[in-house]
Amino acid sequence: MNDLTPDREERSANLKGMGCSRKRVEDARFTQGKGNYVDDIKLPGMLHGDFVRSPYAHARVVSINKDAAMALPGVVAVLTAEDLAPLNLHWMPTLAGDKQMVLADGKVLFQGQEVAFVVASDRYVAADAVELVEVEYEELPVLTDPFEALKSDVVLREDLAGQTEGAHGPRKHHNHIFTWEQGDETGTNQVLDNAEVVAEETMYYHRTHPCPLETCGSVASMDKVNGKLTLWGTFQAPHVVRTVASLLSGIEEHNIRVVSPDIGGGFGNKVGVYPGYVCSIVASIVTGKPVKWVEDRMENLMSTAFARDYWMTGKIAATKDGKITGLHCHVTADHGGFDACADPTKFPAGFMNICTGSYDIPVAYLAVDGVYTNKAPGGVSYRCSFRVTEAVYFIERMIEVLAIELDMDAAELRRINFIKKEQFPYTAALGWEYDSGDYHTAWDKALKTVDYDGLRKEQAERVEAFKRGETRKLMGVGLSFFTEIVGAGPVKNCDILGMGMFDSCEIRIHPTGSAIARLGTISQGQGHATTFAQILASEIGISADSITIEEGDTDTAPYGLGTYGSRSTPVAGAATAMAGRKIRAKAQMIAAYLLEVHDDDVEFDIDRFVVKGAPEKFKTMKEIAYAAYNQAIPGIEPGLEAVSYYDPPNMTYPFGAYVCVMDIDVDTGVPEIRRFYALDDCGTRINPMIIEGQVHGGLTEALAVALGQEIAYDKLGNVKTGTLMDFFLPTAWEVPNYETDYTVTPSPHHPIGAKGVGESPHVGGVPCFSNAVQDAFRAFGLRHTNMPHDHWRIWQAANQLGLHD
Ligand code: CDP
Repeated sequence: MNDLTPDREERSANLKGMGCSRKRVEDARFTQGKGNYVDDIKLPGMLHGDFVRSPYAHARVVSINKDAAMALPGVVAVLTAEDLAPLNLHWMPTLAGDKQMVLADGKVLFQGQEVAFVVASDRYVAADAVELVEVEYEELPVLTDPFEALKSDVVLREDLAGQTEGAHGPRKHHNHIFTWEQGDETGTNQVLDNAEVVAEETMYYHRTHPCPLETCGSVASMDKVNGKLTLWGTFQAPHVVRTVASLLSGIEEHNIRVVSPDIGGGFGNKVGVYPGYVCSIVASIVTGKPVKWVEDRMENLMSTAFARDYWMTGKIAATKDGKITGLHCHVTADHGGFDACADPTKFPAGFMNICTGSYDIPVAYLAVDGVYTNKAPGGVSYRCSFRVTEAVYFIERMIEVLAIELDMDAAELRRINFIKKEQFPYTAALGWEYDSGDYHTAWDKALKTVDYDGLRKEQAERVEAFKRGETRKLMGVGLSFFTEIVGAGPVKNCDILGMGMFDSCEIRIHPTGSAIARLGTISQGQGHATTFAQILASEIGISADSITIEEGDTDTAPYGLGTYGSRSTPVAGAATAMAGRKIRAKAQMIAAYLLEVHDDDVEFDIDRFVVKGAPEKFKTMKEIAYAAYNQAIPGIEPGLEAVSYYDPPNMTYPFGAYVCVMDIDVDTGVPEIRRFYALDDCGTRINPMIIEGQVHGGLTEALAVALGQEIAYDKLGNVKTGTLMDFFLPTAWEVPNYETDYTVTPSPHHPIGAKGVGESPHVGGVPCFSNAVQDAFRAFGLRHTNMPHDHWRIWQAANQLGLHD
């Protein structure tokens, strides 16, 4: 039965199951403009909300006068903190154990903070009324630098004055949030003190923003007759929103329905709970009408969840021949005005403790200090799993700096320190147990494909030609090798607001042999409707084309923790396979009954159960489904349905090897990407075409972050990059041709061996682009320069090295 005869080959192809580059079923509606986004929702009598926002980064709110706004025809209400206070909704809990103002309560802590919510008959009237709300502010000193904030007498969070304990332990200063320590400090310091070589570097991973194409928004509709609240919104975790909405409002959870319709990109930006969601709910309860709130681009960039803003100092110890012996990392993390970072509760700096990367480092220590400043709150993992991008950038830069210190080739330094294949499962010095990996094979394949030795030779010749004055272009070879940690998470370690991070899938097979599966996750463009159906097709033998995948409606989908941190495949994908196996187990009993043999005498074969040794005797899954509903089978309940709630035993650890070849014009600072090679290993591959798309997208966002994208502030806390004129979003013009490749190292604990992939290219891509820029100047003495490497900063780096003399 093992060789695929022509008939079996055809039946297998018809399934469009695992490993098939099935075309995305979602794209028919997306490419025809038929998607259904939050702003497409229009309900009878619907009102529109808009925010009055603070122009100041730090100010006392002396008074708010609503009269002129209320007088404008069409304005229904202007809500302030005073109006929300009796409902106890003027503040809300954050995902990080802090609390955050919904509307300014006495003061504002960042530019763009929500001060009042105007509700009007239409979006434009609401916007006009926003201009008519008179707010008197008294400016306060502004702190945008976390190091200054930790020294300053200015108390940012007056509501916390005198509190020396926070959600994550002691607070050392009134602007300090927490210190999070991991690993062995004494052991690491001993190794550093006695090391043959120590390389030290401080790097700033700048503040940036996920900037999804669709901004955040919600529509709340409170039906006072049946007491049911329906909330549509841009939610990456709709069930969590339902639970939080219930806890905040006191409305029982069964009376709240949360729906995430189509979402135009999330990348972490749509994980948190924003004041706009709360205000639309309150406004709907107060007015008895549906209320829509959709932010504009500036509001999205200025006030919703940022990413990064980490100052990282590393010390890496090694022997003279390059064996790493210890790693020390300290981070000063700028969390803005409220600690609204989205991380599992026990991990206030996310999975930053994967900062030992892909290397066998015997001892390590990490400390992270969270700090309040006058910037927007909400640090999220922008296309990565809870700060893994920061961790991987840190270690991949430290490796480069160590290579400089040792005068060694950076590819070779990586190779001699990689965790070896036979060491898996591998427990890292900071506690993670890596499930599987084969780093040397991936690295060798990558270096061979790009002709690494040839590139280094060419680079050396270019340096000589530059010195002779024959060219003004330098060449950089950017390397990165990353290990991601995705699939949060085991419930014992990972929760968000106390809710364990399992996920779920519920399947119903219809009598005619087609099916619907509902999951606790929600696609934001990743193609779940395509790929989850493929997992099921292979598990239950029904064609993917006959399986509908539904996500995002809490009234119908089983409870799940949503989609972020590339957790869909590792957790919900596993739940899908497990639910499929439950269906298959029942189908086996039905088939055996129909074929009049013992259960053990039938076996699954692609789309049917066959009698062992007699393949001509079989029942197809279609026949079995029909029988499940229409035939009385002794001892077996009618119907064919299953549900699985999956608590993963561990995370999955995808990895990859990237190489970027870049030419840099020293006189203009313009980089030109000549070649980008990306090898990804995400274990078992469900849909190679979707994986390729995910890699292209992740690399493009990595290019953006490394080469220009940032949220920059001036000294007064004004956001200098609040529009897409200033905030870099790459277009086809800037994006190079990417070469993708892969190896397959299945996860040993995942039911189908799959690991996540959506975020890997971002995680590995940022250091690769950055290393390429820095490597171009290595021969001229550059050790480290901070991102984003826009033309001006590259030009400056060249200038400081004396290359313009
Ligand atoms: O959680 P999120 O959907 O963002 O990330 P993911 O689990 O890495 O999946 C992204 C997309 O890639 C989904 O459509 C997956 O089904 C697909 N994928 C795949 O085809 N094979 C894998 N081994 C991992 C993901």
